[in-house]
Amino acid sequence: MKRLQLQAVNMRFGPLHVTRDVSFDISTGERAAIIGPNGAGKTTLVNIIAGELHHTSGQILFDGEDVGTLSVAQRAQRGLVRTFQISRLFTGLTVEENVRVAALHRKQENKPSRDDIDTAVHAGMSKLQISHLAHKEVDSLSLGEKRLVELSLALTQSPSLLLLDEPAAGIPRSESRMVLDAVNALPSDLPVILIEHDMDLVFSWAKRIIVLAGGAVLKDGDPQLIAADEHVQRIYFGRGE
Ligand SMILES: Nc1ncnc2c1ncn2[C@@H]1O[C@H](COP(=O)(O)OP(=O)(O)OP(=O)(O)O)[C@@H](O)[C@H]1O
Ligand SMILES: [Mg+2]
Repeated sequence: MKRLQLQAVNMRFGPLHVTRDVSFDISTGERAAIIGPNGAGKTTLVNIIAGELHHTSGQILFDGEDVGTLSVAQRAQRGLVRTFQISRLFTGLTVEENVRVAALHRKQENKPSRDDIDTAVHAGMSKLQISHLAHKEVDSLSLGEKRLVELSLALTQSPSLLLLDEPAAGIPRSESRMVLDAVNALPSDLPVILIEHDMDLVFSWAKRIIVLAGGAVLKDGDPQLIAADEHVQRIYFGRGE
């Protein structure tokens, strides 16, 4: 199982210092949530890890390799996978065809056989319980269903670490539960970094919670430790004092 290590990572946008000396390690089967107030730098951090942004100092190691200068695609090849945005789904193709495209791009040592690809496609859909949507064109799906397809595309790429930034954002309330249930049902041995504002989900799902405030790690630990921390309660939950 691969390990992600951030060492004193900083991100500056001109004079704006958005990520401040962030260090943490994520390894085997960890389900980590990143929480923090709006503007704390959570999305920026995920963008830095996925390769959409290049940090201005510090190091990002994945499985011991410095991946800090690699592109999004190169990091995905190594198993560092972020969910596709809905706009990346191929409209005009069915759900199954979309999943097949992801299966063809997943990292693997040897050229896969047709059977291997078929197996990956069906596993990708059944894990997200979207097999019944296989032959529907993605344009005809609801937003929540599209989000499930994106998750299935990410899983089909055989990620070693999955990054999810607010998976239920932009989804109508009537469907957000379905999406969060799908996140909850992700394989428990798959390391995931999740940004989510639904604290019920965060505290029941995560094995570890990293609290960001003002771009820096305020607290990092198991859910019990985080829930009990006065500083966290004051800054994040607006309680205490
Ligand atoms: N490309 C950019 N250029 C300049 N400033 C940026 C850029 N991207 C983000 N920022 C700034 O960095 C800070 C952190 O933003 P970020 O989106 O990472 O926060 P967040 O924790 O994800 O917030 P939210 O909970 O609202 O999603 C904000 O002040 C934002 O304005
Ligand atoms: Mg954000």
